Amino acid sequence: MQKLKYKLMLMLGLLANLSFAATLPPAQSKTDMVVTDQQIATKVGLQILNAGGNAIDAAVAIGYALEVVYPSCGNLGGGGFMLIRFADGSTRFLNFRETAPAKLTPKMFLDAQGNVDKHKAKYSYLAAGVPGTVMGLDTALKRYGTMTLPQVMAPAIKLARDGFILNRRNVELLTSRIKRFKPQKNIADIFFKHGGPKVGELLKQPQLTRTLELIASKGTKVFYQGEIAREIVKASDEHGGVISLQDLKNYKISEEQPINCNYLGYHIIAAPPPSSGGVTLCEMLNITSAYPLGFLGFHAAASTHYTIEAMRYAYADRNRYLGDPKFINNPIKRLLSAKHAATIRQKIQAYRAGDSRKIGFKITIHEGHETTNYAVVDKAGNAVDVTTTLNGYFGNHLIPGNTGFFLNNEMNDFTIKVGAPNLFQLVQGKANLLAPGKQPLSSMTPTIVTHNNKLFMVLGAAGGSTIITQVLEVLQNVIDYKMNLQQAVSASRFHMQWLPDVVFMEPYAFSNDTLALLELMGYRFRVDGPYHVKEWGALNAILRDSKTDLLMGATDPRIPYSLAKGNN
Ligand code: DON
Repeated sequence: MQKLKYKLMLMLGLLANLSFAATLPPAQSKTDMVVTDQQIATKVGLQILNAGGNAIDAAVAIGYALEVVYPSCGNLGGGGFMLIRFADGSTRFLNFRETAPAKLTPKMFLDAQGNVDKHKAKYSYLAAGVPGTVMGLDTALKRYGTMTLPQVMAPAIKLARDGFILNRRNVELLTSRIKRFKPQKNIADIFFKHGGPKVGELLKQPQLTRTLELIASKGTKVFYQGEIAREIVKASDEHGGVISLQDLKNYKISEEQPINCNYLGYHIIAAPPPSSGGVTLCEMLNITSAYPLGFLGFHAAASTHYTIEAMRYAYADRNRYLGDPKFINNPIKRLLSAKHAATIRQKIQAYRAGDSRKIGFKITIHEGHETTNYAVVDKAGNAVDVTTTLNGYFGNHLIPGNTGFFLNNEMNDFTIKVGAPNLFQLVQGKANLLAPGKQPLSSMTPTIVTHNNKLFMVLGAAGGSTIITQVLEVLQNVIDYKMNLQQAVSASRFHMQWLPDVVFMEPYAFSNDTLALLELMGYRFRVDGPYHVKEWGALNAILRDSKTDLLMGATDPRIPYSLAKGNN
């Protein structure tokens, strides 16, 4: 009976292999490529490349432009990671993740019954970590760029001062928060001036213009020690926050060694802790590398089963062991060893779903975005991938005083209480417990892939805990299932993160036949994402075609108004 089931699975797998959905082709360019979630930001990136800037100059200009044209993702009030691979093959990873203020403790987020107060954990000044992006972008520019801060900030300042036309997505995002924003005068004055926001309206942001001009003319010190620091602290003090001038003054970015692993002849370079991205991605790739996924087929029952189990085990390890390396010892070598992958494979049964409660750490469950990624490759072959985040859309939904930018709610990425799921339903352990001065564990996964020591892919995504599985699936789609880049990014997704013990799936991700086989094996599916959007994520990618040397660019069709474009 079991054998018959397996044969049936294989047959269906082979059929599935033949049925790729058609998509528009990826963007192509002989010289360079810029991919972002907002077409205006892509054009800013190209403008900087055309003016002689390198990929780092373009990335910094894009970062500032996105603050203006994509306010839900910021990111002056947030933090992020930048992964660079220079044309000579050397790599750098910049960590400008938000840091917990010195006076912040987990208890501050608990109610009288000792449960996490969800409102406080999302919508308060306590939820905000010390922002890192302004220093991160500036450091990248000074160390690896060729232009000055005023030069790369000029397009963003112009967009803030002269305005830009609101698109449907801008308007939908802003109006979805109308109840929170309208009563806050400093926010309503910017976005809800004429009863708006309306599609086609020109949005000028004078407060943000002033902030950007201050940074461009006085340097980042004004943000960490000057007028802007004082404005952040004043607003935080007035509303029960604990960020101090000292916290801002003490903020530092760091450079870390990226995580490296190999997958079927490809070399993966990805984000190290405090991101869980690289370790979890490489652990999943190590586990699945021994299964013939390409033969079994895209979204066939057998290939899906092995991939889900790899996700289950790798996320169990992520949620248990990983955290800020300045505070805990991440067992990276063990988690990425061939032995660990082999041990996990031995536990995966051929025809049966695993059981999350039998692996990982013992917990009692106590209860029941926004991010953006951009990628640039310049004509010299330098590659950059950046992911920045405010965590939730519009972060903590608060703009400090007249600064014009939203603050993050990144403290929600910490374990506030072991067993209490966070915004992304992640149940995490002690390694990621909130502590003063600590950086919360992230899922952001800027990734670069090489083949025969040549640049092959640059990719990264938004989408909280799903970021790592999005990157995994796009790599599988390209490497195992031989899709072109746009097909790989567009293809429907599934996600499992140890707990809850369900497989999240996008609509139409599997045929009814495949679902029936997987359900027979014990899987439970939910047509939903862990942060309750049905089609999740926003993955941007660039691929260098080794035969033609052309650069291909693909944005995520889930994000309207995103754009991949090169010069030629
Ligand atoms: O760092 C992280 O893992 C999260 N703060 C990312 C949040 C995110 O991607 C939200 N986007 N949808």
